[in-house]
Amino acid sequence: MDEMLIAPSLLSANFACLQQEIATVEKAGADILHLDVMDGQFVKNITFGPCVVKCIRETTQMPFDVHLMIDRPERYIEDFLRIGCQWLSFHIEATDCAADIIKKIKEYNCKAAIAIKPNTDIDTITPYLADLDMVLVMSVEPGFGGQKFIEKILEKIIQLRKMPDCPKYIQVDGGINGETALKAAEAGANIFVAGSYIFKSNQISNTIQNLRDVLYG
Ligand code: DX5
Ligand code: ZN
Repeated sequence: MDEMLIAPSLLSANFACLQQEIATVEKAGADILHLDVMDGQFVKNITFGPCVVKCIRETTQMPFDVHLMIDRPERYIEDFLRIGCQWLSFHIEATDCAADIIKKIKEYNCKAAIAIKPNTDIDTITPYLADLDMVLVMSVEPGFGGQKFIEKILEKIIQLRKMPDCPKYIQVDGGINGETALKAAEAGANIFVAGSYIFKSNQISNTIQNLRDVLYG
């Protein structure tokens, strides 16, 4: 069975006690920690930036998966890389410098990913596929947690998987629960971001275990 990674999104955690929330998902066996950085420009929401990421970096061993939802990410990419992120995603809709950004991410031995919004065609990223470690396929409009999974994006995952240069990892983000994770896995995704499904559940460890059971069938 291929590797399937579960990535809780901190967006739905209680920001008043981040260290505790992170410890809970780490102990429950989550694989990587998904961190949604929003600037109020590229998306209509503002979350946190490098200062917060730096502080929480010191509290956990979990690999950091930073999802930049900011305009012109090239301005801040190195700030996140210096902190020590293991995965870094930026949106193709937000920049004209994708090739330079990927190069910079690789210089730091970090995994490079491009994120695409639900209505963005995968043709926009085909020139970069061979240089990427992951594609992040958004299954909701970026900006907020707790939205409904957009089924239409499954076709995009299927299409991507068939491409000769498709990277090893396809991440799906938005509206993920046991049911939608399984659909995305069947389409070819292997990293599953879940915010509200995990952090708003009563028993976080059971929820992560359920997700794992579903994915490994
Ligand atoms: C939304 C973020 C997601 C968000 C997912 O723009 O990129 O990572 O936290 O939240 P859920 O899992 O609740 O849809
Ligand atoms: Zn995200």
